[in-house]
Amino acid sequence: MSQPILVFDSGIGGLSVLAEIRKLLPHHDYCYLFDNARLPYGELEEQELVSGCVALIDQVVERTHAAIVVVACNTASTVVLPALRATLSIPVVGVVPAIKPAAQLSKSKRIGLLATPGTVKRHYTYELISQFADDCHVELFGSSELVLMAEQKIATGQLDMARLTQVLSPIVEADLDVLVLGCTHFPMLRDELQQVLGQGVTLLDSGEAIAKRVKTLLAETNSEQHIQEDAHCDALMQAFYTKAEISEGLATTLVDCGFSTLKRIT
Ligand code: SIN
Repeated sequence: MSQPILVFDSGIGGLSVLAEIRKLLPHHDYCYLFDNARLPYGELEEQELVSGCVALIDQVVERTHAAIVVVACNTASTVVLPALRATLSIPVVGVVPAIKPAAQLSKSKRIGLLATPGTVKRHYTYELISQFADDCHVELFGSSELVLMAEQKIATGQLDMARLTQVLSPIVEADLDVLVLGCTHFPMLRDELQQVLGQGVTLLDSGEAIAKRVKTLLAETNSEQHIQEDAHCDALMQAFYTKAEISEGLATTLVDCGFSTLKRIT
């Protein structure tokens, strides 16, 4: 096995980022780590997020000899990156809400950020807005319920469209032309979000930008050699989770995504 790319999230949201990375690096080996024991992260205090994520990721990096860690979780990325970089000796990539491209794309200069309650209240988010969108009116929407709805959709194939419509009604009323999906769970609901918000609202996420960053970083490390060597093999895919049970639907989804091993860690 070459040194894998480790993608981390609180739940299934990071699979949307992993899918983008695999488009660019289809033959690389991957590990996916999700902290289903403490989901949703949007409700956790900063200190708990930092200590919990660093301990968990450090443990899995040691087990897998990962080449790069991708924190495919916006909520965690707002606070854990400095401590994680200080702990690990490999590159760490975080996700940043697509505020800058949203501000550039918007014609009405009315944009929104849909993220978790944790992300929308962080200083990090206000800095991003003042740096890249000071010519826009920016509305912030925080929802952990949508995170759980995305998890449920993946686990059961069901989504309550009536409830989704209720949750999104403040966004419909805000009259925006661009909405940033600032939580990696939300691209999992992209079709349904678009259906409720209408075609007049452009949805932006950062999956593709993260994938490009990972490819560039990987090319700068010794792992570049492995990309070439592995080009004719199927990628090795391992998923790690933290809670005793995962639903049958989620396990099936992971297998459908190509994961050959699912391991619980504590
Ligand atoms: C959550 O666990 O609350 C969602 C994480 C994210 O922001 O991507």
